Amino acid sequence: MGVFVVFLSLLLSLAAAFLFLPKTLRFVGDIAGHYLRRASRTRRELLLARVATEQRQYEADHEASKDKEEDDWEEIEGSMVGSAVNGGKADRDWHGIVAFFHPFCNAGGGGERVLWAAIRATQNRWPEAVCVVYTGDHDVDKAAILQRVKDRFNIHLHPPTVHFLYLTTRHYVLSSTWPRFTLLGQSLGSLIMAYDAFSLLVPDIFIDTMGYAFSVALSSLFFPTVPTGAYVHYPTISTDMLDSLSAGGQGVNAGTGEGARGLAKKLYWRLFAMLYALVGSTIDVVMTNSTWTQSHIKSIWGPYRNRRNKTHAHDIDVVFPPVAVEELEEEIEVSEKSDKNRGPYLLYIAQFRPEKNHQLVLEAFASFLHSNPKLPSYANEQPKLVLIGSVRDSDDATRVYNLRLLAHELNIKDQVEFICDAKWAEMLAWMRKASVGVNSMWNEHFGIGVVEYQAAGLISVVNDSGGPKLDIVVEVEGKPTGFHASTVEEYAEGFRKALSLSREETLAMRYRARKSAQRFTDRGFSEKWLQNMDQLVKLQVSRAGEA
Ligand SMILES: *[C@@H]1O[C@H](CO)[C@@H](O)[C@H](O)[C@H]1NC(C)=O
Ligand SMILES: *[C@@H]1O[C@H](CO)[C@@H](O)[C@H](O)[C@H]1NC(C)=O
Ligand SMILES: *[C@@H]1O[C@H](CO)[C@@H](O)[C@H](O)[C@H]1NC(C)=O
Repeated sequence: MGVFVVFLSLLLSLAAAFLFLPKTLRFVGDIAGHYLRRASRTRRELLLARVATEQRQYEADHEASKDKEEDDWEEIEGSMVGSAVNGGKADRDWHGIVAFFHPFCNAGGGGERVLWAAIRATQNRWPEAVCVVYTGDHDVDKAAILQRVKDRFNIHLHPPTVHFLYLTTRHYVLSSTWPRFTLLGQSLGSLIMAYDAFSLLVPDIFIDTMGYAFSVALSSLFFPTVPTGAYVHYPTISTDMLDSLSAGGQGVNAGTGEGARGLAKKLYWRLFAMLYALVGSTIDVVMTNSTWTQSHIKSIWGPYRNRRNKTHAHDIDVVFPPVAVEELEEEIEVSEKSDKNRGPYLLYIAQFRPEKNHQLVLEAFASFLHSNPKLPSYANEQPKLVLIGSVRDSDDATRVYNLRLLAHELNIKDQVEFICDAKWAEMLAWMRKASVGVNSMWNEHFGIGVVEYQAAGLISVVNDSGGPKLDIVVEVEGKPTGFHASTVEEYAEGFRKALSLSREETLAMRYRARKSAQRFTDRGFSEKWLQNMDQLVKLQVSRAGEA
């Protein structure tokens, strides 16, 4: 009976959303919210009781056997608190329930790394808070999930204050469930799944970490006092997609905007984009994983968010996902002494795939060599280009063969070294010896390899596009950490500039590069995450005070 009532109200509220009747929406939302709170109250109390029991059990266990893990845990906790923003004492005592909407939490990909790193940071900052993950992974229990998080990501969570609630409606968001109107279907599916989640538990803060923006909007509709957040990896619909339908557009949908079918499709996408924008405007705190995603989300959500006055308090923030920078920092020294071991070597670490554009690098290197460069900082030692990459199949092998031929033709083969399928130790050795890191892929969304160059203290010469330009090879303290290039000549010029800096300038740039890589460490992620989380906690406290 109750389910029926709420489903009816869900449908009604959707209908109302289409008709733009904010009052009706509010009314329906209040009823549903009230009902869900009442229905899940017992489970909430049970959950809190279980947290308390597990915490006591945990303390008792670790009292008995001073376990190494716990020491680790406390060490992290101690070091983190100091760096958190506004880390006042009362603040630290906050003890609400933070729910993470991540129905595929056991997948073990980059998105999951963000989820676990976020939970760890939250646990460290607010030890009394309870983190709950809504998931559809029925085949794994809490112990198994936490073990996998440890093995896969080396992230140690504090078990008593993290819990999992299992959704039964995950199939509604699979694209196979919606062969037609997939975007709309999956968004509807995420509404059903969010309803499922709220009937399990109504949290104090609700955060979507998988891109189900509609579920966040449902939370705002049902529970206006619950602050909401979203960590966006990728926009559900982007301005690129919308533009691509027009004549002269690019990509898979290029030109499909013609004719009656095309018109219908255009209309459907526009309608969806509008709904997506409305939904996005209800979210209190928005984070994106890169500047590229940020600019797309801003252009779609921005106008409605401005109208709702959300941008004044909390702008859409970029929170870079953590990359394993720390290991490189430990392994590779950057100092005046270690600089004596570095030669005028250019390193390009990339799979031998066509889009990595090795050919351009070879041509640029040839052009650079033929200009007879003087490199006093390297005692006029001969420059060398080192290409390191994995060879996955015979296509890759053919490409390497052709690149060798090209090096031969360009008369530079004695100064080019190909290393296929290098071991990690060998790569580290080259990162210690080389001076410059090269990347020539166009519009790479991010570029973990370039972050690794920076962590290793290499001066980057990268394509003037995508993540390497916007996010990675940027200025630090108002000075460059590398060079951007588009054409063969510009790359050659970049190599010349990078290798003809004075010794002091070279070392200073290495230090800046390393500092730049800091933004992509676990610590950098935690700090940014906590700044945003802090906003949510403050909102929760002030709204709970008003209620
Ligand atoms: C952001 O997420 C998208 C989609 O998962 C991914 O392609 C991109 O590389 C991510 N960006 C960063 C900075 O990790
Ligand atoms: C919008 O936000 C600003 C700054 O927080 C505030 O001064 C202003 O009153 C708000 N306007 C509305 C309409 O709420
Ligand atoms: C590098 O980026 C520019 C855009 O700035 C692009 O036009 C060019 O083709 C790119 N070069 C390569 C080698 O991908």
